[in-house]
Amino acid sequence: MFILRVLCCSLLLTAAMAVDSETSHPDGFAVSSAHPQATRAGIKILKAGGNAFDAAIAVAATLAVVEPYSSGIGGGGFFLLHVAEDDSNVFIDARETAPKAASADMYLDDEGEFLRSKSLTGGLAAGIPGMPAGLVYLSENFGRLEFTTNMAEAIRLAKEGFLTGKRYNAMASYRTEDLNNFPGSAELFLDNGFAPKPGFRVFQQELARTLELIAQTNGHAFYKGEIAKRLVSGVLATGGIWSLDDLADYTVKLRSPVTTTYRGSKIVSAPPPSSGGIVLIEALNILERYDLSVETDIDRVHLVVEAMRRGYRDRADFLGDPDFINIPLERLLSKSYADGVAENISTTKASVSLELAPLESKVEGRDTTHFSIIDAEGNLVAATLSINTPFGSGVVPKGTGVVLNNEMDDFSARRMTPNTYGLVGAGANSIAPRKRPLSSMTPTFIESNDRVAILGTPGGSRIISMVLVSALEFLRGGDAESMVVAKRYHHQYLPDQINYEKGGFTMSEVSNLRGKGHQLKESSRNYGNMQVVTWEKKSGKIAAASDPRGEGQATVEK
Ligand code: GLY
Repeated sequence: MFILRVLCCSLLLTAAMAVDSETSHPDGFAVSSAHPQATRAGIKILKAGGNAFDAAIAVAATLAVVEPYSSGIGGGGFFLLHVAEDDSNVFIDARETAPKAASADMYLDDEGEFLRSKSLTGGLAAGIPGMPAGLVYLSENFGRLEFTTNMAEAIRLAKEGFLTGKRYNAMASYRTEDLNNFPGSAELFLDNGFAPKPGFRVFQQELARTLELIAQTNGHAFYKGEIAKRLVSGVLATGGIWSLDDLADYTVKLRSPVTTTYRGSKIVSAPPPSSGGIVLIEALNILERYDLSVETDIDRVHLVVEAMRRGYRDRADFLGDPDFINIPLERLLSKSYADGVAENISTTKASVSLELAPLESKVEGRDTTHFSIIDAEGNLVAATLSINTPFGSGVVPKGTGVVLNNEMDDFSARRMTPNTYGLVGAGANSIAPRKRPLSSMTPTFIESNDRVAILGTPGGSRIISMVLVSALEFLRGGDAESMVVAKRYHHQYLPDQINYEKGGFTMSEVSNLRGKGHQLKESSRNYGNMQVVTWEKKSGKIAAASDPRGEGQATVEK
């Protein structure tokens, strides 16, 4: 397997982190994740001699248990890795795929109206999960410890139960009605039909058995064995269209990360079928034209918003699953392209989204989770994982304990009709059998002359703008703490407005931005759950921070 990885990597890997003679090893290891139990599981593996990739398996599997609303075995995700041994960067695409029986108009009624509930709830909303295959791939190609060892803590927590917190209550409240439509799901995740108050213990015996089987059979039981049969039955019983072949045919994809430089720092991020890396890089390439350090706060926000607007416009026009459509990747990532799209940015006046070049393509989170890991050898992991909206499709096929995703809603079900995140698409992201829905998940590494950052967050369409805001904070000298604290604002081309988190701008900032012609909307709450690890290359010092808006934990061990 190691040979296989080396071969793949020589073909696919780009933009290695530069390691020079002055780079020291990290002075310890660190994990930052959205849940203390998951962070502890990762630290335990690192202390037992595992590397960052072993720890990533433990963290991802534990999150599948303790954050059943965010990610899990019934979902998918992206793992961005830096392998210190050969100084390479690897992107594991474990994104869900559409089932073979899927079609472009599967969520439209006879009049062509979009039936949103069908892409969000029930078996028809679920894509074929990639997470188990992703974990197996990580273990076989990058891990050092036994797969069963890395999975042990998750299995224990599923059996012995975990205590819910405020976040669980908020997520279960949001989906109480849908969960109650599926009695098995309600029994597992609700307290007599209601969102449990913090301190409720959730037991998941069937999930424990599923995780055990995945660990013992390297995923075979999930994709081709007894769990596969139960999954398909559960999906068919709730309106879905999966077949056993869909599961048997699932494979992860190794892809080249997308990269750029920003004023001397290197950015390494998620390629399609994520839109994250491309939008992030296009925005940074645009912003590199300006010296943001000398701009006023308002002018800086204005320019960042104009960069977001253009990046998200191109998301809608060009991006989808690269195995199905041609994406002009080189062009979108080039500095000259950024120069062209930035030409009509005024420093004093907001652009109007619909006055930018019209979408032409001829083809066309609320929840999710992220964790960041570094080990003492300098291996890095940025992983963003998802089942899409809280508790995914709401379906837990009998006898599996697996919460199925509703990632099918990330497709563009109808041209220019917004999905649940308000994102539109012109055609590149239309539904097709076995296609991967376009994602916004943006696991990212940044490397400046003397520092490295590992970052990412959940948050649906706002993931990319959050990563951009935190990346800019790091690039102007900020640390892990200031990166997770940074106030968030977002523009996604359409709707043509700046959405900012509660209290994100002062009244005077709002009025100044309005003065430039921007529409603004304050969110009813703050958003995101950013997990950051940083490494100072010369001293070896590492630091980590977990978003204060969440309930996660960042732990550094020396
Ligand atoms: N399901 C959220 C995303 O992939 O963007």
